[in-house]
Amino acid sequence: MAVDRLSMAGGLKFMLLLSVAIGCDAASNAELSDFMTSLWHSDVNNASSVRVNLQGHASSGSATDHATGPLFSSVNDQYYFSRPTYAALIQLLDNYNHVIGDAERSNQNEDHEVTLFLEAISKTTVMQKTQQFLKQQGYVGVSLAEFDTLLRQIWFEFYPRHGQTRDSCGFEHVFVGETDTSEVIGFHNWIQFHLQEQKGNLDYRGYIFSKQPRTLGTQFTWLSKTKSLGTFMYGTSPELDMAMFTVCYLTRRNQLCSFSVDGHPIQLKTFDITNGGGHHLGTAYVN
Ligand SMILES: *[C@@H]1O[C@H](CO)[C@@H](O)[C@H](O)[C@H]1NC(C)=O
Repeated sequence: MAVDRLSMAGGLKFMLLLSVAIGCDAASNAELSDFMTSLWHSDVNNASSVRVNLQGHASSGSATDHATGPLFSSVNDQYYFSRPTYAALIQLLDNYNHVIGDAERSNQNEDHEVTLFLEAISKTTVMQKTQQFLKQQGYVGVSLAEFDTLLRQIWFEFYPRHGQTRDSCGFEHVFVGETDTSEVIGFHNWIQFHLQEQKGNLDYRGYIFSKQPRTLGTQFTWLSKTKSLGTFMYGTSPELDMAMFTVCYLTRRNQLCSFSVDGHPIQLKTFDITNGGGHHLGTAYVN
């Protein structure tokens, strides 16, 4: 009897260990590359006709403006930004206070805009494939509602970035951008870059690197603060950026997320922030 119980406990422990192992870091870099490549090709909402004008090469640390013109030279705004996921993303961009230290508060209308954005992206093949992949890997459950809840927690729940004030969230940091006393932090989305450039709030100062597929390292000032190296993918849909960052955050949290898309190597980095309890995305960017 006693022996049986012991071996049963051993078996349970083994199964537990196994499921922990499966739920953690199960996807190899090759599997990740296959998945990310298939995701890239599913991005029917991409804005691949967007053109950039790189102009001069900037070195991080230099204060010289190496670009007199804007980075985005040709974007068919009306064509792309009326699409459901772009339109829903753009609604969210003015919901945040970019100043670090100033508390974030959302109202009912802004909460509703988050719901509409999550609804819009959940209808895309990109997000559906992402949920399937994460389910296979053991990171999310079977229901779409569960995935929605997870995305909300990771990207939209407010947390304190440095001090005690809930002044930030993953979405604000990555898709909108923030400022601290001396510089721009976060800001890794091309749509926000282009819109802020159009409004005259952002001055592009030159590129640091340009890689396939559609990946840039740039230098710019935003609202008079400097970003000496700001990286992002461009011409990607909102759902593709969110999907790629979410997959890296769940499978390669606090590590380099290395994979290739059509043979082009990409490295993303995502970090967890545990301030305020729970898992939230602190940042996510192209390395
Ligand atoms: C990007 O969009 C264009 C135009 O809609 C489409 O032809 C192309 O297949 C898309 N690319 C990918 C990788 O989905």
